[in-house]
Amino acid sequence: MEIRTVNYQYLQSNHTASRNSEIELMHLACADSGFFTLIDHGLEEDVEKLFEFCSSFFDRAQSEKESVPRSDRYGYVPITNRAIDRERKSGNAEFLDIGLSDEVKSAVIDEYLNEIRSFQSKGVAVALALLRQLTHKIGVAENFFDQKMNDPQCRMRFLHYPRSSGSSDYPLKAHTDYGLITLLATDGTPGLEIRQKDVGWVAIDPPEQSLVVNLGDMLARWTNDRYNSTPHRVRAPKEVSRYSIPFFINPNPDTVIETIQTCVTERRPNMYDPVTAGNYLAARIDGDAEPYIRTEVPD
Ligand SMILES: [Fe+2]
Repeated sequence: MEIRTVNYQYLQSNHTASRNSEIELMHLACADSGFFTLIDHGLEEDVEKLFEFCSSFFDRAQSEKESVPRSDRYGYVPITNRAIDRERKSGNAEFLDIGLSDEVKSAVIDEYLNEIRSFQSKGVAVALALLRQLTHKIGVAENFFDQKMNDPQCRMRFLHYPRSSGSSDYPLKAHTDYGLITLLATDGTPGLEIRQKDVGWVAIDPPEQSLVVNLGDMLARWTNDRYNSTPHRVRAPKEVSRYSIPFFINPNPDTVIETIQTCVTERRPNMYDPVTAGNYLAARIDGDAEPYIRTEVPD
């Protein structure tokens, strides 16, 4: 199935009509599927480097991968039945989480740290530019997000879904992302599915070199569900391994997520109490294990 494709260069265009029609396209995508693909975003070369890192990291021996610690919800999480350290919980996929600072120190990561940091800073800038373009659609000042995202809380996840041995069609649980906005780089291997209202689960096939952009629960909450955070899942690949790199982008921890008043109407009364972004994320992240992979959504 096709989801909307937004051209980042058009969004940045000085030509008002082109820019506005692209903003309208993005706004419609946010208001229905909560997903779109972004092309001409300028991060294509950075993404290529990140996938190099991905395959070189996940090809390493299990003991080397587990030499990257898991602490404060950053670091490496193995596939359950391959784990040497059985305390680390996962599913049928393995992943490595890296924040914006030195939450996890490892020589294995250092080799590609410049490339990782480059993508992260450009990724935050792209996300902020997208949000800025949406401001007049949701009735807030153009700089509404700027001051709220100058010390963002971000997590970059390198994910490896091994070729399925038939043990599980969906290695990780279906879920919504809990943060603000996610930029997802995929390696072209199919598998991503999103749940569309009145349609059910549909497979997404992003254009080559695009980023999949999806909104998280925090932005849905901020906009009183005028924008959607949509359940998604990944089908296990049959022929080859699949790598993907979601970059979860969130506001400064002290940002108060308080329903944007223009998103409240008689037909859409305010549904949410204010909460700080830090407390909201902590409530969603803290627990026995990473809820990202455990959240069940009803079919
Ligand atoms: Fe996700």
